[in-house]
Amino acid sequence: MSNTFHHLPVLLTESLEHLNLHPGAVVVDGTLGGGGHASAILERTAPDGVVIGLDLDEEALAAASERLAGYGARFRAVHSSFRLLGDAVRAAGHESVDAVLLDLGVSSHQLDASRRGFRFATDDGSETPLDMRMDPDSGQPSAAELLARASAEELQSWFQNYGELPGSRRLARKITEERRIQPLRTTADLLRVIDEARVGRGRKHNPATLVFQALRIAVNDELGALEEGLEAAVDVLRPGGRLVVISYHSLEDRIVKQRLRAEARGCTCPPELPVCVCGRKPRLQILTRRPLRPVDGEIKENPRARSALLRSAERIEEAA
Ligand SMILES: C[S@@+](CC[C@H](N)C(=O)[O-])C[C@H]1O[C@@H](n2cnc3c(N)ncnc32)[C@H](O)[C@@H]1O
Repeated sequence: MSNTFHHLPVLLTESLEHLNLHPGAVVVDGTLGGGGHASAILERTAPDGVVIGLDLDEEALAAASERLAGYGARFRAVHSSFRLLGDAVRAAGHESVDAVLLDLGVSSHQLDASRRGFRFATDDGSETPLDMRMDPDSGQPSAAELLARASAEELQSWFQNYGELPGSRRLARKITEERRIQPLRTTADLLRVIDEARVGRGRKHNPATLVFQALRIAVNDELGALEEGLEAAVDVLRPGGRLVVISYHSLEDRIVKQRLRAEARGCTCPPELPVCVCGRKPRLQILTRRPLRPVDGEIKENPRARSALLRSAERIEEAA
């Protein structure tokens, strides 16, 4: 299976540098994917460093486990969301870790595995079911199920907030009309409705790209997972430990930026509150004032890196 995982690790040199690795380091890779970053981390932390690698996707875990089998007990694969990375660290017998990496979104493998419905264009033009779950056995609703049961208001808010799709309301209404006639089961069904709703025409992005992105984010609650994962990561870092996050769109990057700033400030209360009620002390020092981006050479070699933004921070001692 591993030969189907062609994922080139994005911003690898920069990630390794910002993770500040040393022999014997204990590292969480919260988004193991094909194990590209994990393999480089294992090399850098030799001879006795440990990588605890999490992924929601069993296919990714199986491929990465095969690829990293040679590292024996230094590598541990865990089928879990990075929301729960603290539990995975404790289950592996550690109280804190030296570094956490989150390389967000979907892997090239998931995009290419068109039967999972992440991508609307298939090489052979075939129809594929609208699933989009990173963990299809999670018991969570698939994209088709969400499209069948979400209210027009929910659909509109996903397309608007997660896809920034012009004409979100029109598309939401069209979907609720269409599903009364027949359920939207496949990528082709959804593409037809997007086309008929005539949304987002003449814009830079293909409207279908925006709709598929929005649905994927909703199906996997990606932004909720990111909020919780960042919190869990900071909780588990030892003082001096490093957090590195690679995002692929502005919604993710905004959450990372705001979270790091809040942790560097101390207070994590929503900006609307006039006074602090959380009483938190600063826990992070930000290392990237602005996000790092891939150089042209990397983008040429790996077009998926085009939108990548890396931010990092160091855990500091909490003031008493
Ligand atoms: C961009 S890929 C990571 C690629 C990896 N860094 C590599 O070098 O091969 C993102 C991976 O994160 C996984 N993922 C996304 N959200 C997750 C979550 N909340 N918890 C755990 N894994 C998640 C996806 O299933 C996917 O395999």
